[in-house]
Amino acid sequence: MTDTSSAPVSGKPVSDRDRVVIFDTTLRDGEQCPGASMTFEEKLEVAALLDEMGVDVIEAGFPIASIGDFESVAEIARRTQNATVAGLSRAALNDIDRCAEAVKHARRGRIHTFLSTSPVHMKYKLQKQPHEVLEMVVASVTRARNHVEDVEWSSEDGTRTEIDFLCRCVEAAIKAGATTINIPDTVGYTTPAEYEALFRTVIERVPNSDKAIFSVHCHDDLGMAVANSLAGLAGGARQIECTVNGIGERAGNAALEEVVMAIETRSDVLPYRSGINTKMLTRASKLVSAVTSFPVQYNKAIVGRNAFAHESGIHQDGMLKHTQTYEIMTPESVGVSKTSLVMGKHSGRAAFRDKLKTMGYELGENALNDAFTRFKDLADRKKVVYDEDIEALVDQGIAAAYD
Ligand code: KIV
Ligand code: ZN
Repeated sequence: MTDTSSAPVSGKPVSDRDRVVIFDTTLRDGEQCPGASMTFEEKLEVAALLDEMGVDVIEAGFPIASIGDFESVAEIARRTQNATVAGLSRAALNDIDRCAEAVKHARRGRIHTFLSTSPVHMKYKLQKQPHEVLEMVVASVTRARNHVEDVEWSSEDGTRTEIDFLCRCVEAAIKAGATTINIPDTVGYTTPAEYEALFRTVIERVPNSDKAIFSVHCHDDLGMAVANSLAGLAGGARQIECTVNGIGERAGNAALEEVVMAIETRSDVLPYRSGINTKMLTRASKLVSAVTSFPVQYNKAIVGRNAFAHESGIHQDGMLKHTQTYEIMTPESVGVSKTSLVMGKHSGRAAFRDKLKTMGYELGENALNDAFTRFKDLADRKKVVYDEDIEALVDQGIAAAYD
């Protein structure tokens, strides 16, 4: 069988692909969702793993939110070796100062400041007029730039913002010194075509847009966070904000492992690259699931327990002939040791024979047929047939032959 363990099914040479910044917000937007809070030590452990895995920016928390948040951001800033460490702040000046205090020990620190720009948010949440919001954008980014060189500005509810106003805000933020411009789909409302067009328009219309990196930040309310994030790249964005296992407010954020493996696996049509060591994705998923107690759904893309498991006879037979028949990436590429052919009522004779072989049994044709019949009978009664069950039914067959 061809060894496909080191290459995706299709791909463009790495040197021809644009580098995308992976901004992980597991410790901020992820932790913000009900039931996902982490202790100080757990946050340090997650941050260390993200850093080792090659995440470019770790959003470590929201320093003004609590003393605990401040301390964890500050400690992550001190310990992180490679990644930029970002803290979130609202547009208020004391928020920004507190955030600066937390990230100041980082080798590379970022202040991420945000403000709502959509009509509904400005009217009801902020109770401010557009011109006041525009003034706040300038004041907040200017204040942040007085502390650090790396400033990200986000237009909260950007996808429901009137386009002319959005462009004016982005222009003002860049002029005041923002180096990253994030246009979040805060409520998971946009669609891929719409989000791509939004980035194209803003990047085309705003003077000096090349002075900043544009960023996507997508929520999954309609299940389109990953697709929207990738569409944002097509529109010109080069930073993706995401979380491990897709945890986050309400239906969650774009899942880091999904965006990374999408660009890795389909680099023929998604010509980007990230700095992520994809072999660490499963470890990261398990750690985040353990510390948050958020289970990962079995059929979750990339890191779900069934992502590399095959039960149907037709699929198992195909997999035994060539792994690319039913796998578009290798389990090894995401840190799973091997594909599993799960033995159940849908399994076929080929997989059963292969299973017996790996268990050390070489049966003749009659004995194999007999064992397979009893296996099917057992599989009809049990959801999954374990190795011990197979061992027992083969041993029974051997014993019966000697009776
Ligand atoms: O979803 C959102 O708009 C956010 C911002 C604070 C960036 O999380
Ligand atoms: Zn968010």
